[in-house]
Amino acid sequence: MKRILITGGAGFIGSTLANFYSKEHKVTVIDDLSMGSISNLDSSANLCFIEGSVTDRELMEKVLSKTQFDYIFHLAAIASVADSVARPLETHQINFDSVFQLLELVKNNQFELKRLLFASSAAVYGDEPTLPKQEESVIRPLTPYAIDKFAAEKYVVDYYHLYGVPTSAVRFFNVYGPKQNPESPYSGVISIMMDRYKKLLNKEAIDFTVFGDGTQSRDFVFIEDVIQALDLIATSQDSLGEVYNIGTGKAINLNELVSIVDNFLGINLPICYEDERSGDIKHSLADISKVTEIGYEPNYTVKTGLEKYVSYELNNLNGEDSKK
Ligand code: NAD
Ligand code: UD1
Repeated sequence: MKRILITGGAGFIGSTLANFYSKEHKVTVIDDLSMGSISNLDSSANLCFIEGSVTDRELMEKVLSKTQFDYIFHLAAIASVADSVARPLETHQINFDSVFQLLELVKNNQFELKRLLFASSAAVYGDEPTLPKQEESVIRPLTPYAIDKFAAEKYVVDYYHLYGVPTSAVRFFNVYGPKQNPESPYSGVISIMMDRYKKLLNKEAIDFTVFGDGTQSRDFVFIEDVIQALDLIATSQDSLGEVYNIGTGKAINLNELVSIVDNFLGINLPICYEDERSGDIKHSLADISKVTEIGYEPNYTVKTGLEKYVSYELNNLNGEDSKK
């Protein structure tokens, strides 16, 4: 039984990972619940939840000096690009300072660690137009979020080369699936879109706001494929000190996304087009050859992933209705 620490473990990706590992391993989750929720976590004797901030040095030192972990996944962050543009200083403390602090605490306290895995982002590539993005492509971070992710990722990798701390970093492209919180205006676009479909099915008068003309495209990757990639990277020896893209290798634009779900549900989601957001990237697409070399193979296309996500939400909706 391994001991695993997941920061941001009540959030979308973190809780899915925590529920996956807690079936067989001891998992500790630290989350300040700013975006995450305890209800995302399965009730399991293997899961220990600590409410607190990764910026709290005393708390982090206490946790890291008390238990020797096998794996640490540092996922806690303000995940919104647009929020970082609105609040650069606050987001910097979480998205960069907490990583640097964690690296120091790990170097000084964790002696059995097999891997510290850091969640970086495709946002580091910015708007340089060459696609698909390889890990060695031009890096042009355009926002405080992307700058923080890139700087943090560099430190993470450097701590392996300089001090032997076993680290890897991943650049997630656009992850979607159950448990992604749609409540903030800065939430991931598919979670917001799904929320609008649910409201439409509930006969509420809504529309879905698209910033720009909807032709911006992303490499949307389903959460289950992300969990597969994280587990492979954390347990591979080849990935020590390395950075990996995690996506599907295919991109789709927002208008096309809506048509897939419209067709699947047989309804039309009303769309309201507004000005594009500043700092927004037009097109994003991953080259996933590097992670494929260690055994990763996405099991979902955006169509099959969306259909699974929609079916999950519909089941929940029906469950809620039958409780009424
Ligand atoms: P999320 O917002 O659902 O999860 C982040 C979690 O961190 C939340 O539960 C939040 O409450 C928690 N958190 C925020 N500030 C904290 C703090 N100071 N202390 C402790 N916990 C804190 O987002 P997610 O989509 O699950 O993203 C996880 C990680 O992956 C983030 O680092 C994000 O930047 C990165 N990422 C996500 C995507 C994506 O498409 N979802 C893409 C690229 C990178
Ligand atoms: C997302 C992630 C970010 C990650 C990056 C990697 C979130 C909140 N953001 O950023 O953590 O690092 O992928 O590629 O998980 N849009 C709308 N209407 C909406 C919301 C968004 O049109 O209601 C548009 C945005 O302007 C953007 C696109 O949809 O053009 C995607 O936005 P978003 O889901 O926030 O993702 P990214 O900015 O790509």
